[in-house]
Amino acid sequence: MKKVQFTETVLRDANQSLIATRLPYDKFEPILEKMDQAGFYSVECWGGATFDVCLRFLNEDPWERLRKIRAKMPNTKLQMLLRGQNILGYKHYPDDVVRRFVRASVKNGIDIIRIFDALNDTDNLKVAVEETIKQGAMASGTISYTTSPVHTTAKFVEMVKELKQMGVSSICIKDMAGIMTPQSAYDLVSGIKDAVDLPVVLHTHCTTGLAFMTYLKGIEAGADVIDTAISPFSGGTSQPATETLYYALKELGYDVALDEKILIEMANFFKPIRNDYLADGTLNPISMTTDTQCLTYQIPGGMLSNLLSQLKMMNALDKFEEALIETPRVRKDMGYPPLVTPTSQLVGSQAVQNVLAGERYKNVGAEIKAYCRGEYGRTPAPINEEVRAKILNGEKPIEGRYADTLPTDTYEKAAEHLGDTAKCEEDVLSYIAFPQVAENFFEKRREAEEKVVRYTITEA
Ligand code: CO
Repeated sequence: MKKVQFTETVLRDANQSLIATRLPYDKFEPILEKMDQAGFYSVECWGGATFDVCLRFLNEDPWERLRKIRAKMPNTKLQMLLRGQNILGYKHYPDDVVRRFVRASVKNGIDIIRIFDALNDTDNLKVAVEETIKQGAMASGTISYTTSPVHTTAKFVEMVKELKQMGVSSICIKDMAGIMTPQSAYDLVSGIKDAVDLPVVLHTHCTTGLAFMTYLKGIEAGADVIDTAISPFSGGTSQPATETLYYALKELGYDVALDEKILIEMANFFKPIRNDYLADGTLNPISMTTDTQCLTYQIPGGMLSNLLSQLKMMNALDKFEEALIETPRVRKDMGYPPLVTPTSQLVGSQAVQNVLAGERYKNVGAEIKAYCRGEYGRTPAPINEEVRAKILNGEKPIEGRYADTLPTDTYEKAAEHLGDTAKCEEDVLSYIAFPQVAENFFEKRREAEEKVVRYTITEA
């Protein structure tokens, strides 16, 4: 019997995709010990936007959240999402910061780090992968899935072989936009399975309605693990429902070792939470529906709404059709980057600029300049040379790896700046990742501690 395992995403991706990561620790704490017994391959619970949102909106120390989850879930592998050389943000960090971040993540309880790069540049993955392995955790080497004339199965397989060489424990196909079709999943998983002997993890979103079929065909081709979300937090922009796939796969004869009773308890637990977020407007019912526009335009859903809001701000909604046509052209000029943060914003804003100015690349943003200088890494196909020359306007592109050009004392400078405010290495890393947000958090923490001290003194 072929085994299929599940990664439960309710705490991270489902939380992020449906309710902008607003789930506080206290809300899900009561279910953690149960979840720990469900038999998941792993629980994705950290990284991605959880870190930023903890500090910015929930007044939670993300590191402490991780330690608390770890204590409640001693039997399950805890998983996080890491943006390679960008750790959890959108700019590149020097290698020692990446290494420290990985080390601290593992030390605080992470077992599996899913490491990806927006451009699929393996140079941006290797330091994080290397350090993850060194710390005794599992590195899941990740493909940011996209479609373009240069993103063939052969090209993805080439990347997978490089990842295998780096020593990753598994390969994840990450389809952030939900555009992977059942047939593409079948072909890609088959190609990978033929090339390397590594577990393959499938990750997609229900956005376009393809997800269940995509998983099934991927599993038929040999995929070992699928990402799902417990039903109340599934569907729409989130993952397919855990229970649905459990029942379907079990009946098809797959070995799915999940505890059905616990899945039911989890669903009962999260249903009223979901309903609260629906009632207060945090969960927009539209994010739970199917939207096939991304298949038509090959543009992720989030990007379409960004294009609309940018044009609205400029009072130029009449240019929407034009911007839709311009977007794939800019993407082609830029060497077909996968449309994921931050490249999606970069391509989208430039398309809007081009349409508004009536001349292509007349106005260019700082980010696209940096991209053309090579600060995001190697592009899947070369950047259109004429366009690059116009954008750079005489500036020279950097040679080699951008991270190698960064100052090597980022960590020391940050520690010095924070002084006593930083109580541990983790605090310094929070500050490096999100400086202003972390400082506001430290200030609130200090105020709260002072209150406790004052209270204790009056009580005595
Ligand atoms: Co995702």
